[in-house]
Amino acid sequence: MFADDVRKKDVKTPTIAKEVWHDGQFIEWNDARVHVMSHVLHYGSSVFEGIRCYKTQRGPAVFRLREHMQRLLNSAKIYRMEHPRQLDELCGAAVELVARSGLQQCYLRPIMFRSLDEEHPAFGVNPFPNPMTCYIGAWDWGKYLGEAAIEQGVDVCVSSWQRLTPNSMPAMAKAGANYMNSQLIKMEALTNGYAEGIALDDRGYVSEGSGENIFLVHDGKVVTPPLASSILPGITRDSVIQICRELEIPLVESAIQRAALYLADELFFTGTAAEVTPIRSVDRIQIGEAKRGPVTERIQKVFFGITSGERPAPGPWLTYVNESKTAPAETGNGFRAEQSREVGKAASSNASDTRDSIHVTLTE
Ligand SMILES: Cc1ncc(COP(=O)(O)O)c(C=O)c1O
Repeated sequence: MFADDVRKKDVKTPTIAKEVWHDGQFIEWNDARVHVMSHVLHYGSSVFEGIRCYKTQRGPAVFRLREHMQRLLNSAKIYRMEHPRQLDELCGAAVELVARSGLQQCYLRPIMFRSLDEEHPAFGVNPFPNPMTCYIGAWDWGKYLGEAAIEQGVDVCVSSWQRLTPNSMPAMAKAGANYMNSQLIKMEALTNGYAEGIALDDRGYVSEGSGENIFLVHDGKVVTPPLASSILPGITRDSVIQICRELEIPLVESAIQRAALYLADELFFTGTAAEVTPIRSVDRIQIGEAKRGPVTERIQKVFFGITSGERPAPGPWLTYVNESKTAPAETGNGFRAEQSREVGKAASSNASDTRDSIHVTLTE
């Protein structure tokens, strides 16, 4: 039933940080465990982020850290999750985790979820009695859709599964439960021999991949679906929009018909994991020259120039871990106040840019 390679891991996980940040403390990887009766395991009550930290000449640099942590807080707000976590604290914790791990590049995974109060357990759907908890883990991760994909592109299909509808499961929140829909899309694509699936929204317009936003290039113009097409407000998507502005490439956010995918000159995915990945065919229909197109290549070049620290970004997009004030060796709540002030300060020197970009992604 399954092709053999479908069961293989998506990507290798060569190195995992030995510690995990948990509600203000650093704990051992092996101690980062939950009770099987935790609310999240049964009812999907988690929100999370995926953040990349890039290797640069100035040491590891976290890409758009504040925007990611702000989206985490936004997701928690949508799901009425009450918790004590603050933006500066989360940013400081992520930076400290990378510093302590010794990793030069990694993927960061903050997650907040409803767990179990073992003294007063609650097992119903009602989430309110269950305590919130927050973890951040880190590991070194390769290219999500494969090393070759960045140049050669990937073969994808339009999924028979629709994306979530805005009034059922809001795609604007990065909630763990949304990824059951993503898993259906991904499994169908993989079992049919594709690298990824593109979901349509409930009206039949193009929405996004299982874990990526999508862009189309036609007649020199870049088009991407609006938030109204049930997409996650992707931070890489926002970065590409800003890069297009800088390169003076015309860009519009507009509903896209499925057939327009087949007629595109170029297509590409964006995402923290996928970065900027060209698409060379959809439903076995060749896109452009069946390889990375010139507009995609220009955008990729600028994107990777920025993430490697070799090219200035349109805003304070990189948080340099070694240049953020490091914390004392002891763990606990005490150190973070000092450190998070520093991380907050670095970003707030250009805070209006950061706030603007978050604002734009929520209201288009
Ligand atoms: C469903 C979905 N859409 C889009 C994206 C891209 O978002 P970002 O660029 O913020 O990683 C992701 C990845 O997080 C995703 O899971």
